[in-house]
Amino acid sequence: MESVPNLAPVGLPGDTDSRPARLQAHHLSVHFAERSALEDITLGFHAGETTSLVGPNGAGKSTLLKCLSGILAPSHGEVLLDGEIVRRPTSRVAYVPQRSDVDWKFPINVLDVALMGRALRASRLYPVSDHDRQDALAALHEVRMSRFASIQIGALSGGQQQRVFIARALLQQADVYLLDEPFSGVDAPTQTLVLHILDDLRQSGKTIIFATHDLAMAEQSADVCVLLNRTVVAKGPASRILTVPNLRSTFGGAMDVVLQPRA
Ligand SMILES: Nc1ncnc2c1ncn2[C@@H]1O[C@H](COP(=O)(O)OP(=O)(O)OP(=O)(O)O)[C@@H](O)[C@H]1O
Ligand SMILES: [Mg+2]
Repeated sequence: MESVPNLAPVGLPGDTDSRPARLQAHHLSVHFAERSALEDITLGFHAGETTSLVGPNGAGKSTLLKCLSGILAPSHGEVLLDGEIVRRPTSRVAYVPQRSDVDWKFPINVLDVALMGRALRASRLYPVSDHDRQDALAALHEVRMSRFASIQIGALSGGQQQRVFIARALLQQADVYLLDEPFSGVDAPTQTLVLHILDDLRQSGKTIIFATHDLAMAEQSADVCVLLNRTVVAKGPASRILTVPNLRSTFGGAMDVVLQPRA
């Protein structure tokens, strides 16, 4: 990571939080060929705060999370972690990808997927140790998956796979946790389990950002909500941002169908 000492702290108009953000997107744009997926995104994410990211299919939620994790280089702008530019994945930022972004046929067992959480710290001099293996089993135990340790990841159900990726993120002992639709397709007990884990992380001062299509979850399980559709449509306290006008601005006319009262 490279330091940018003179960069001013960023925030949106109306952002009342004057604390320096731990993670910042600074005038971030992403262009794929002729198409622009994100345009001039400036956002700050604080320690001990959970942010939900909401927007229609194709809004750029996954693209934003990939940029924040250092996996995808933005076309313009930068991502800053405690003021330093993030150019590649770092052990300080854990990322749980959207299910559709994972190659589930990759021949790897559950324990080794969890151990990937240590890969950014491991090196030729300090390879993965027995201690790491014990920690990986403990993380799998936390998500109730330790008895599946030797099973191929592709053989698990969707909700079980999601829990293994949460274990991988836990093992990373990061400061920032980025989760792309962690609740999609998982049953109620798994949702509750993941929510408890995220709440513990938040209380211990971690920064959490999750993308979701579940508006109730976006409101009730986050402190801050960002409405995104290629640009930031609105950002603010989760309890106040999911208004009908804001949702219409984010989703367009399609939202009117959802907002119609039932006959
Ligand atoms: N590697 C890529 N090459 C070309 N276009 C891409 C690529 N990745 C994403 N896009 C495009 O960028 C836009 C944003 O995609 P993204 O996956 O970030 O949306 P999303 O908000 O996560 O959608 P969803 O709710 O369906 O997951 C889409 O138009 C998508 O087709
Ligand atoms: Mg997505």
